[in-house]
Amino acid sequence: MQDRSPNPADLDPIERASVDELRELQLTRLRWSLQHAYENVPHYRKAFDERQVHPSDLRELADLARFPFTDKAALRANYPFGMFAVPREQISRVHASSGTTGRPTVVGYTKDDLRTWAKLMARSIRASGGRPGDRVHVAYGYGLFTGGLGAHYGAEELGCTVIPVSGGMTERQVRLITDFEPEIIMVTPSYMLAIVDEMERQGVDPRGTSLQIGIFGAEPWTQDLRREVEERLDMHALDIYGLSEVMGPGVANECVETKDGPHIWEDHFYPEIIDPLTGEVLPDGESGELVLTSLTKQAMPVIRYRTRDLTRLLPGTARPMRRMEKITGRTDDMIILRGVNLFPTQIEELILRTPALAPHFQCVLTRDGRLDALTVKVERRADANPAVATQAGHDLVTAIKNNIGVSVRVDVIEPDGVERSMGKMRRIVDLRGGAERG
Ligand code: DLL
Repeated sequence: MQDRSPNPADLDPIERASVDELRELQLTRLRWSLQHAYENVPHYRKAFDERQVHPSDLRELADLARFPFTDKAALRANYPFGMFAVPREQISRVHASSGTTGRPTVVGYTKDDLRTWAKLMARSIRASGGRPGDRVHVAYGYGLFTGGLGAHYGAEELGCTVIPVSGGMTERQVRLITDFEPEIIMVTPSYMLAIVDEMERQGVDPRGTSLQIGIFGAEPWTQDLRREVEERLDMHALDIYGLSEVMGPGVANECVETKDGPHIWEDHFYPEIIDPLTGEVLPDGESGELVLTSLTKQAMPVIRYRTRDLTRLLPGTARPMRRMEKITGRTDDMIILRGVNLFPTQIEELILRTPALAPHFQCVLTRDGRLDALTVKVERRADANPAVATQAGHDLVTAIKNNIGVSVRVDVIEPDGVERSMGKMRRIVDLRGGAERG
């Protein structure tokens, strides 16, 4: 793999600032953001008044803990444009998250917000090792989803050549990679795996393509998957994090020098970790739910937004900003099986340590009488002998029992047996029936 570390002189000044300078900037910006939300969004005015807090109560950053949380329900209740803090005419673009249940959540951006987003995405691509002049193949979906357009304008901002492919048509993805020779691909990690399989099917050597950097996000993925992708494609695999309610991709990004978890771009987003049950703020280093407050957003400020993503905050390394540990999962993706909590990422890790099994899997939940049961449907690797793969399935049952502490069923199925996703992969299939769920 090529050395792709950025030249320190090319970084934004704040990426080289001291932690003290960063905290001072955050305090100034946080005051503005609270005031802006309070004055212009009825939801925040009401929520602050009910809590008997006022933006002027913020004397130091820790005072943020006195302000109320915001969640998806607040956004839904104000559907579509009720959370906007500027007149609708000043909104340059809207995006929306699909929302598997109920109304989608709508977000808006002013011209300045779009400029900030493009700059933060450019910073993210640069942190991943991207440089002006690189060709960037964008396979995140374009449209209401923030992935495609977010990546697109960031790559343009950095001075790259953008190839706006969007998701889907996997054969064509491979052809465009071999013909246009991009150095960078931006795609969900699960769809990257589908693209590599297709390369192999077409007889294209994945290690021989022009790709040097993959910028993967929009869904959880593990260190073991990073190893797998880096090995199979001979390229750097970097983690990008974001969510539409807070901006889109580019809230945090890993640095290619260290690959030790995404640095949160703290000059624009203030992170906290809370205990998801009590709401109590936890000290850095402890695991809990990530809560984010926007510091500069005009169109739709978010104050203490509960992401439901589980992680912890770690000190900065390659940048002064704090890092988040690779996300284990979302509170809503936690499977509780006979009293044991587990996440699909834990299953992914164990599958990747089993050579005859492919990283294409789904967790199927059913109910046997009064007990919940989990079946892991996982594919045999195309080059693995079926008998060896069947044995690997038994080994996986044991590994899950030993490492996670629950008994599950494992069904080893033929290659291509798990439905491929062009975007976010659906890891959990719940067949238990809503009404009975405890
Ligand atoms: O997924 C934005 C995005 C696009 C991020 C492209 C990165 C790349 P939403 O559709 O609103 O936005 O979904 C946000 O996806 O709360 C996490 O649960 C999950 N997620 C996003 N990035 C990561 C990541 C986009 N790197 C939700 N690791 C978030 C784990 C991620 N989960």
